[in-house]
Amino acid sequence: VLVHELSGLGEMERQLEQTFKLAQVIIVPGDSEIESYAKSLIGQEAAKQLELLSQDQDTVAVTGGSTIAAITDHLSVHIKPKNLVFVAARGGIGENVELQANHIASAFALQASGTSRTLYLPDHLSEKAYKTMIKEPVIKEMMDLYDNTNIVIHGIGDAKEMARRRNSSQQELDTISQMQAVGEAFGYYFNEQGKAVHRIRTVGIQLKQLKQARHLLAVAGGASKASAILSYLKHAPRQTVLITDEGAAKNITQLM
Ligand code: F6P
Repeated sequence: VLVHELSGLGEMERQLEQTFKLAQVIIVPGDSEIESYAKSLIGQEAAKQLELLSQDQDTVAVTGGSTIAAITDHLSVHIKPKNLVFVAARGGIGENVELQANHIASAFALQASGTSRTLYLPDHLSEKAYKTMIKEPVIKEMMDLYDNTNIVIHGIGDAKEMARRRNSSQQELDTISQMQAVGEAFGYYFNEQGKAVHRIRTVGIQLKQLKQARHLLAVAGGASKASAILSYLKHAPRQTVLITDEGAAKNITQLM
């Protein structure tokens, strides 16, 4: 605790909590893009928060990404068995399997002695496929789960970087740049003011469902993600707990 305060991390946590009216901010030392220990620390803090905030039989929606994947190894130590149901927050086929929400939801369930519900769908659907798909009973069931999600654990990424990682079409890349998107989370792209300016057409949790959740864990670090994280924080729901690192936090406070 003393080291945390002396290094100024505690002060930055309070500054971010107050500025963005968040439930809590946790900053781990280091930069998770450069030092792997920092990413592991983020994962550990997220696992501890999940234990603290979850109740028996809660539905927990999880997104993909390497930062969320880093939570997996800490779950068996920190989570007491309480029948948590982990659901993939989005279809999301297209990325590396280890980074997909489906894979992560199953891995979380295994480590936390819970169960999982997955949703294997392409990351991008054509309008026609989307309209047909949402009428399917299994998709409706998923939407009901999203309506009743108690906790959401999600990553945040740089908009352009994420569009590249997802092999987005030229048309989508153009939209993202025209709309001046800087951040991305759960399939939504946000501009500098924190407004959602674009959404990937796929089955997944929606902003309004996210806002209804009891707790939100936004988990992202690394100096290069500062503007992305900042854009997201501008409109982040009040029940958000941000778990980040020193590298991102320092840059965020400079941009504020
Ligand atoms: O693709 C899933 C996702 O959670 C995105 O919404 C987010 O932008 C990204 O992963 C973060 O990935 P990483 O933790 O690997 O930087």
